[in-house]
Amino acid sequence: MIPEVKVDLINGVLTVTISRQDKKNALTNDMYGALADAVGRARSDGEIKVVLIQADGDTFTAGNDVSEFAAQAVGNGPEERHVVRFLRNLAEATVPILAAVQGKAVGIGTTMLLHCDYVILADDAQLITPFVNLALVPEAASSYLLPLRIGHARAFEMFALGEPVPAASALAWGIANKTVATPELRQEARRIAEKIATKPLGSLTSTKQLMRDAQRLVAQMDAESATFVKRLQSAEAKEAFMAFAQKRQPDFSGLAQR
Ligand code: COA
Repeated sequence: MIPEVKVDLINGVLTVTISRQDKKNALTNDMYGALADAVGRARSDGEIKVVLIQADGDTFTAGNDVSEFAAQAVGNGPEERHVVRFLRNLAEATVPILAAVQGKAVGIGTTMLLHCDYVILADDAQLITPFVNLALVPEAASSYLLPLRIGHARAFEMFALGEPVPAASALAWGIANKTVATPELRQEARRIAEKIATKPLGSLTSTKQLMRDAQRLVAQMDAESATFVKRLQSAEAKEAFMAFAQKRQPDFSGLAQR
């Protein structure tokens, strides 16, 4: 248990709350470990009918901690990248997963939503996938799932330009189920989660299984991960991480790589 990821189980709903507000809920390796444990627990704990992912503060998550990316870029990464286990557990989850999103959902903050079965966005939510801006590639099987969900044109634009997609567009494109006023987000997410938790669990899990091909998703994640790790060590990515630390725009000129 770590304070940055709070977990509680009430009325069959396992609520997982990301809470690292001073860093806009940027996710560290330890936090991925806690998230992986929570989502994994839902497979084995019969009391859990639904998982609800939410976050404290004004930002859902700023995505992966960029300083940890920078450390990995120079070979100082962790022994185990828990993000891999978190994503695999999401792909292989059997119970329904809900997400309640306010403010910015950056990188994996957006791509994890593609593994959720019900997504509620606050009016102020913005989905941002700045993988190319960081000289990386998409992860979480999003290179497969996002074009499938919203079409190649929109997905490429989200990846390549990395500009914020407002809640209303995300709803219209089918990334989310509904939008609500920000103060109502938690209550509405809880209401839907508890409603789903009253349904017959065997039917829910079978329905979810029929709707998704977990093996296909894990295969895509593995392919992305191999490229991602290579990209992390590229000169382009190092420049992007350094620019973030120095609070300036990156300069990729002269670093072209194919
Ligand atoms: N990793 C590490 N630290 C992060 C972070 C991240 N992904 N996102 C934000 N932070 C830190 C900032 O460095 C800052 O720390 P400091 O107070 O010690 O300087 C603090 O969180 C607040 O961030 P700030 O940028 O001042 O807040 P903001 O409201 O102006 O902007 C974001 C919020 C999320 C738009 C902006 O921080 C951002 O773009 N972060 C990087 C997102 C990203 O590229 N993630 C990787 C995705 S693959």
